[in-house]
Amino acid sequence: MSGMTEVSKATHIQWQQYQIDAAARARLKGHQSAVLWFTGLSGSGKSTVANALEQALLARGVHTYLLDGDNVRHGLCADLGFSEADRRENLRRVGAVAGLMVDAGLLVLSAFISPLREQRELVKSMLPPGKFLEIYIATPLEVCEQRDVKGLYKKARAGEIAHFTGISDPYEAPLAADLVLNTAQSSLEQSVDKLLALLASKGVIA
Ligand code: ADX
Repeated sequence: MSGMTEVSKATHIQWQQYQIDAAARARLKGHQSAVLWFTGLSGSGKSTVANALEQALLARGVHTYLLDGDNVRHGLCADLGFSEADRRENLRRVGAVAGLMVDAGLLVLSAFISPLREQRELVKSMLPPGKFLEIYIATPLEVCEQRDVKGLYKKARAGEIAHFTGISDPYEAPLAADLVLNTAQSSLEQSVDKLLALLASKGVIA
């Protein structure tokens, strides 16, 4: 895995070959592994769409796992904040975990703001070719801010949260996402249908 060289400080470590690979696990499961990488502003609907998709996939017998920014930051990345360096490290760790899950044969759904193109490129570079599918949840800032489900935009506007994406920190929209969804314009069901169609067109699911 190319990602293993990223910030590696380990020396005198060799790569152990496994006897069972991702292709063997894909045959076992009856579907391919991949990472569906949802990116977008806080409150754009990443988690909601990913959760609904996961339910639809379960019903089709697809083995999934959902990695969500808010949850990962309670454990694996509990030591990280929201500076550019911390976000990059957050996403690098998630990329490494997603890579292991892809090798394990799972269809990984991940919901992280991942605001910078370079950060998303990093994750992509850590996965085998063709395994990273970028889903841009393009719900406009005005809508996210109006929803303000967690009350964070209000706090960010009041200056109580620094580096808040879209308010005091940048968000770079993907230039070539595999799918663009706007949860202000389409229903949850429509979004899920589009995602299922994308997965079928890429040969990930039947
Ligand atoms: S990322 O930028 O590193 O990808 P991540 O998706 O893990 O972010 O976490 C985003 C979540 O953390 C938001 O949905 C929000 O609930 C919370 N949060 C807390 N502080 C911030 C901040 N400064 N900017 C964005 N989100 C924040």
